[in-house]
Amino acid sequence: MSSSTIKHLAIIMDGNGRWAKERGFKRTKGHEVGAENIRDITTYCAAHESIETATFYAFSTENWKRPKLEVEFLMKLLDKYLKKELETYQKHNIRFQAIGNIDAFSKALQKRIRDTEEITKKNTNLKQILALNYGGRAEITDAVNKLLQSEKKHVTEKDISQLLQTPYEDIDILIRTSGEERISNFLLWQLSYAELYFSKTLWPDFTSEELDNILKQFTQRHRRFGGL
Ligand code: IPE
Ligand code: IPE
Ligand code: MG
Repeated sequence: MSSSTIKHLAIIMDGNGRWAKERGFKRTKGHEVGAENIRDITTYCAAHESIETATFYAFSTENWKRPKLEVEFLMKLLDKYLKKELETYQKHNIRFQAIGNIDAFSKALQKRIRDTEEITKKNTNLKQILALNYGGRAEITDAVNKLLQSEKKHVTEKDISQLLQTPYEDIDILIRTSGEERISNFLLWQLSYAELYFSKTLWPDFTSEELDNILKQFTQRHRRFGGL
């Protein structure tokens, strides 16, 4: 396997609010159109020969700071999305998984998430991970707390990796849309050697053609992983 094989792609879907504002719509409209776009990008990934996992940042541990109405809208949208996408998951043989602390969500939404994971768990084509109430620091802190409960006196990187919610899945490419160039507490551990791409396109406008272009550029990059 060459160092430029793409197995795990991660996306920070940013710019929904700005997309809507530019058009004179409410921010929530941007979230709605943005959610539709996840399907297109996911089915592109499912058709791609080497991508095994696509992780999308949908709601961060910091997004609770937003106005209550926007947060409530996002929770309802997530429920609607999962209900509707079940068909896509089954049709394209996609396994759905959530990472993040979903205990903070309503019981009904938690059930929707767990049920969708259960129904799709035997699908083998692509794993689609949605990061929901996710924070990289929270994920690492939870792993450390689990280790404190164990008998261990010394821990290795592997011990920590195995206790993360995405056990030892290094990211090959991280894409962030909307022109912002920051990580915003996404997959801090798993991004150690990811190639980073920052697109100026707002998430609702991000197409599979642009993704295809980014993946082509990726194959030109030389990942050294600290070596020569
Ligand atoms: C990303 O779009 C979606 C979420 C964080 C839920 P934003 O809502 O952050 O859109 P901008 O950055 O305000 O344009
Ligand atoms: C990151 O976007 C979180 C998601 C895309 C879910 P934000 O819009 O919340 O990030 P900041 O506030 O610009 O860093
Ligand atoms: Mg944003």
